Amino acid sequence: MIRINFHRSTPFFNLNLLNLIVEYVYFLSPARLYSNKIIIYYKLDSFIKNILYMGGDSKLKVSMSSLDYVLTELKKDGISNRNAVLDIGFHNLDELKKLALLVEADGKVIGIDINFERVQKVKRELTNKYAEKISVKKGSIVDIPFSDNYFDLVFCKAMLHEVQELDKAFKEMFRVLKPGGSIAIIDFIRFSRLEFKLYGLIVKLLGKPLIDVHPGFKFNELQKLLPKPQLVDELEWKKCPFQGHLGFSDKELFLLKIKMK
Ligand SMILES: C[S@@+](CC[C@H](N)C(=O)[O-])C[C@H]1O[C@@H](n2cnc3c(N)ncnc32)[C@H](O)[C@@H]1O
Repeated sequence: MIRINFHRSTPFFNLNLLNLIVEYVYFLSPARLYSNKIIIYYKLDSFIKNILYMGGDSKLKVSMSSLDYVLTELKKDGISNRNAVLDIGFHNLDELKKLALLVEADGKVIGIDINFERVQKVKRELTNKYAEKISVKKGSIVDIPFSDNYFDLVFCKAMLHEVQELDKAFKEMFRVLKPGGSIAIIDFIRFSRLEFKLYGLIVKLLGKPLIDVHPGFKFNELQKLLPKPQLVDELEWKKCPFQGHLGFSDKELFLLKIKMK
């Protein structure tokens, strides 16, 4: 039987939506032109910051603190000293370096990312010291370029909301995991679909590509995606004690740990 540790339920209503509407209706309205200059400056400032935060590296502003938290959590549960760790959607070398501290002396951290430029960048940055432990290659979570039962830990942070084919992604993560191994997923807790639609609309109006496809997740929907629930020993869903940035505002993050028999 699967043991489920459920730490917190998903909020039903998100006040961010109201803030967002007020912010943008105000910014687009002629009324602001007649308001106090300080208010205009404040609104403009936050508007520009929001645009700058949209997509790309800016989202990583919070990722190092969330990464440290997650690694501490994994260590607490004994998910450390693993020989082979897969980081899906690593995006930068720092994340891989921190994961490398988890593995045993002869262990390996392998990163895959769908973005070839990220892979090339990290390859260039890898110095001898890390090159022994870390390697990267281009690959997608829906078609992981490794054989079955290869990894002790599959790590996937702040990227699942960018994946359309979630069922394939879960099948693949399970396929490459060794018996007794673990999967750790960190992503956004489900927030308002309306807010997400508005965000998508503004991204399109700004002529930027929209890489995010899900407004975060609920525990239940991810639980349904487990391809072999009979092989799952323990499931743990935890709200993280800080937020990550997506779209126009900060959003709550969860950590989902799946431990196999
Ligand atoms: C928002 S970044 C997260 C980076 C990092 N894990 C972090 O937490 O800071 C998402 C990364 O996932 C990658 N990505 C998106 N879809 C992917 C897929 N299907 N397979 C592998 N990587 C993917 C992107 O190229 C990007 O580098």
